[in-house]
Amino acid sequence: MAARHFLTLENLTPSELNQLLDHASKLREEWRRGDTRDSLKNRVLAMIFEKSSTRTRVSFEAGMAQLGGSALFLSPRDTQLGRGEPIEDSAKVISSMVDAVMIRTFAHNTVTTFAKASRVPVINALTDDFHPCQLLADMQTYREHRGNIQGATVTWVGDGNNMCNSYINAAILFDFKLRVACPEGYEPPAELIDKAADRVTIISDPAEAARDANLLVTDVWASMGQEEEQKIREAAFKDYQVNPELMALAAPDALFMHCLPAHRGEEVSEDMLDHPGSVVWDEAENRLHAQKALLEFLILGTLD
Ligand code: CP
Ligand code: NVA
Repeated sequence: MAARHFLTLENLTPSELNQLLDHASKLREEWRRGDTRDSLKNRVLAMIFEKSSTRTRVSFEAGMAQLGGSALFLSPRDTQLGRGEPIEDSAKVISSMVDAVMIRTFAHNTVTTFAKASRVPVINALTDDFHPCQLLADMQTYREHRGNIQGATVTWVGDGNNMCNSYINAAILFDFKLRVACPEGYEPPAELIDKAADRVTIISDPAEAARDANLLVTDVWASMGQEEEQKIREAAFKDYQVNPELMALAAPDALFMHCLPAHRGEEVSEDMLDHPGSVVWDEAENRLHAQKALLEFLILGTLD
């Protein structure tokens, strides 16, 4: 049977996503109680990182260890990937030795090409276009704090980037309304918006977009790989900061999320991560639990 991959949220059905998040919350409870689990004993995850990471690396590596398996950190600097070995050849070889592969890279095409040649599940741990693992954690966090997100209004403030694109996918799969507040020229791709036309609205004014929303989300103004655009982006996004004044326009019990790392004074005010509605630390921790559930689902094919 062909391996299941997780390259975008769309690789799982709404029902699978909900089961996975139920399981993630169960794993979190088990872990907090100190219970141990060895569902992935002797299994190995290869982790290819072509961009930096704190949360993703720690959560996948710790997650595999906590499930009785292990993880290999592979960087292009020390592997033949960095010396031009074709992606398909690397995929054939690596996937013949491990049980799953996680990739963080630039072009989304790299993960799709790798997955086509891989005999084991491939997980997208962030590309320039999507960050589906973060959405698992965000959706888990929302339901743990506020219950089902179906029918809720989510406001994205800032760049139409990889996180925003994954929120657009999530709006369809989890059935919520998404307002995207971004400056002109930084909108998410038109073909993605078109696919989600009944659920996604582009509103350039952040205040209008934030009104009565149940969840406000933002991300850095310049993503990894866009470092040279930092100054231009600071000017373009200066009115797109999430701060307590913007939160005050949202629903009284609105939550705030940020995938982190955050740049205080840019996309968030100095105090925003400490706002009573902010759940950013739970969101970060849930990367661990959501991905442990994902690894069990993809490697074992069941959730138990
Ligand atoms: N949110 C996130 O993916 O963080 P890292 O870049 O630290 O992995
Ligand atoms: N949009 C950010 C997310 C980091 C987790 C980036 O791609 O750098």
